[in-house]
Amino acid sequence: MNTQSVRGVSRVVRGMPTSDGAGVKLTRVIGQPRLPDLDPFLMLDEFGTDNPGDYIAGFPDHPHRGFETVTYMLDGRMRHRDNHGHEGVLVPGSVQWMTAGRGIVHSEMPEQQEGRMRGFQLWINLPARDKMTAPKYQEFGPERIPSADLGDGARVKVIAGRVAGVTGPIAQPATDPIYLDVELEPGARLSQPLARGHAAFLYVYEGSVRVGAGESAATVSAHELAVLADGDSVQLEGRDPPHDGRVSRAILVAGRPLREPVAKHGPFVMSTREELIQAFEDYQSGRF
Ligand code: FE2
Repeated sequence: MNTQSVRGVSRVVRGMPTSDGAGVKLTRVIGQPRLPDLDPFLMLDEFGTDNPGDYIAGFPDHPHRGFETVTYMLDGRMRHRDNHGHEGVLVPGSVQWMTAGRGIVHSEMPEQQEGRMRGFQLWINLPARDKMTAPKYQEFGPERIPSADLGDGARVKVIAGRVAGVTGPIAQPATDPIYLDVELEPGARLSQPLARGHAAFLYVYEGSVRVGAGESAATVSAHELAVLADGDSVQLEGRDPPHDGRVSRAILVAGRPLREPVAKHGPFVMSTREELIQAFEDYQSGRF
């Protein structure tokens, strides 16, 4: 008996314009009233602009505790620096998977005065048992992120997870994440297994993509997020973009839900109110 099922689309959400840091303009897709969270995902921001005025102020020193931040750069250069001596520049195509654990204070500042800055920051929760772990980075330049060419105009950069025998460099057993950057020519198809029960979404950032099969399928356009219903796989098909010759591009992300209580405020994501108060006290007294 074959009980494999293709995931449909349970809802389509458009991001909300907002600003964060010292005045960086961005679009908040997860972590806004229409989609407050998608356990284990706490926040998804898309930043994308050609105007330096939208990004030049950057994100000066700020703390994090209790979760992970994942920065994936498409265009532009961002310098990060933390209070434990970790520093570097994220270039186009690079990913920084930061486990904040018990706490870091860091800055994320543009390493350019002009030109395009574009990418994503995703926040992923940590289980209660891992929230006070030592901070850690999994950081990879574009040359260390493998691609799977599936033929017929479907290509995938594998940041986390496995596609057609190609495995991404990120390891996180707690949430077992998949993070794929998918490129589809019009008519190109991708069928990707996803663990049953894991939360999953597709966020289209160029063109448009048909998601799912049959009656629960939907066409998702640029700057829209499709929350996927449960099932064993997802089917994607590139749609004719509005301009000839352009491909459709999207990130496909999935992970195991934690199903734990969440107490969060700003840059701290803990399990109880007491732990949140402790986080503020520890930060203010310099214990990060
Ligand atoms: Fe940060």
